[in-house]
Amino acid sequence: MNICVIGTGYVGLTTAVGFTAVGNKVIIVGKNKKKIDKINKGVLIIYEPGMGKELEKCVKNKSLQATDNLEYAIKNSDIDFICVGTPSREDGSIDLSDVEKISQDIGKVLKSLNEYHVVVVKSTVVPQTTEEIVIPNLEKYSGKKAGKDFGVCMTPEFLREGVAMSDFMKPDRIVIGEYDKKSGDVLQNLYSGFDSPIMRTNLRDAEMIKYASNALLAAKISFANEIGNICKIIGIDSYEVMKGVGMDHRLGPHFLNSGCGFGGSCFPKDISAIIAKAKELDYEPILLESVMDVNKKQKVRLVDMLKKRVGNLKGKKIAILGLAFKADTDDIREAASIDIIKRLKSEGAIISAYDPKAIDNMKTLFPDIKYAKTAKDVLKGADACLVMTEWDEFKKLSENDFDFMKKRVILKGRKMLDDIKGSEGICW
Ligand code: UGA
Repeated sequence: MNICVIGTGYVGLTTAVGFTAVGNKVIIVGKNKKKIDKINKGVLIIYEPGMGKELEKCVKNKSLQATDNLEYAIKNSDIDFICVGTPSREDGSIDLSDVEKISQDIGKVLKSLNEYHVVVVKSTVVPQTTEEIVIPNLEKYSGKKAGKDFGVCMTPEFLREGVAMSDFMKPDRIVIGEYDKKSGDVLQNLYSGFDSPIMRTNLRDAEMIKYASNALLAAKISFANEIGNICKIIGIDSYEVMKGVGMDHRLGPHFLNSGCGFGGSCFPKDISAIIAKAKELDYEPILLESVMDVNKKQKVRLVDMLKKRVGNLKGKKIAILGLAFKADTDDIREAASIDIIKRLKSEGAIISAYDPKAIDNMKTLFPDIKYAKTAKDVLKGADACLVMTEWDEFKKLSENDFDFMKKRVILKGRKMLDDIKGSEGICW
């Protein structure tokens, strides 16, 4: 099939590269000329294991091209995927301005198309967005009718950063929200080569499935953190507890890892968006608000633990191991390390940080802290060390490396380095 993917973020890039890998031709549309040039040269603009090779391959065999020309992309495709960003506004509610604008722009192109075309929303959007914003714009600007002249679907993306390619190629499920059967059939046909169960439903159910999934995953993490905090006070290892809990097939072992909480471009943004949507509907989502509260407080707890161990932070050298919001990505959006650095700075600590991939990104936020070249270097002379990301590389650190610290205070926001003397977990 000929596919147009609009948006060059994580979801857009993965969708574009993923669909070419299974034999389709894709034109990816972006606004940033530099990004477009890089994609056309087969150069990946993010750090994502496995994606670089695939991108190189599909650019070489000409199955993927990038452009800033939306009209060209749509006119040379049968189906468009809207993968634009849906960031948070100041108040936590969703900013749909890019979705609004792109649906108007697509509508303008649809006006001059003679063939049936399907528009698919893949961006994470709050329930009713496709029906109340996307379809009205497509119809208004094209002068055509959804269901008759063009099709509309909403298919949420469930990929995780760090394993984006494999999540895209083999998802647990593919959810197809459809305006009508014909639209859904076109999308199901595109996914026919995927070995995953397909659920067909309506547009707003599909939109809500994405939020409910992310909210439940985030709730599991906050639950594990709350139980973990209680465990810590009693002197219980919360990981042993969750091992036992996860053996119940009704509960499952996943996403019960306690630590410094969830970050990333999705959970914090999406939970805030659905909270705001609920409030707009006059519903008080107390459980979801608590999920966010517990998450926020984990970072405060880590700094409190640090102060208990080393006293006043003014002038203390604090080493930070890991900046990315999780391992195997250079993404620092909503990373726990950001909150921690802000707190440490405000208390006058001298911060030195190391991350295998995320230093350049963090420098744009904090150009004024020190960045070490290696994990070993960051430890030298430190009064304490905070482990914020579970990079495999850190597992190679030995007792000897920690001997170079001034004091052996090793506080862990992520479960690792358990054999290192003097290390202490936030919930274990
Ligand atoms: C998450 C979801 O897992 C994806 O299914 C979804 O598609 C994506 O958001 C999205 O909406 O785009 P992602 O943000 O890439 O994916 O990363 P996760 O692996 O889910 O981790 C999120 C955060 O939770 C990380 O900071 C991680 O360290 C933390 N986490 C995860 C825990 O603290 N404990 C756990 O047990 C699991």
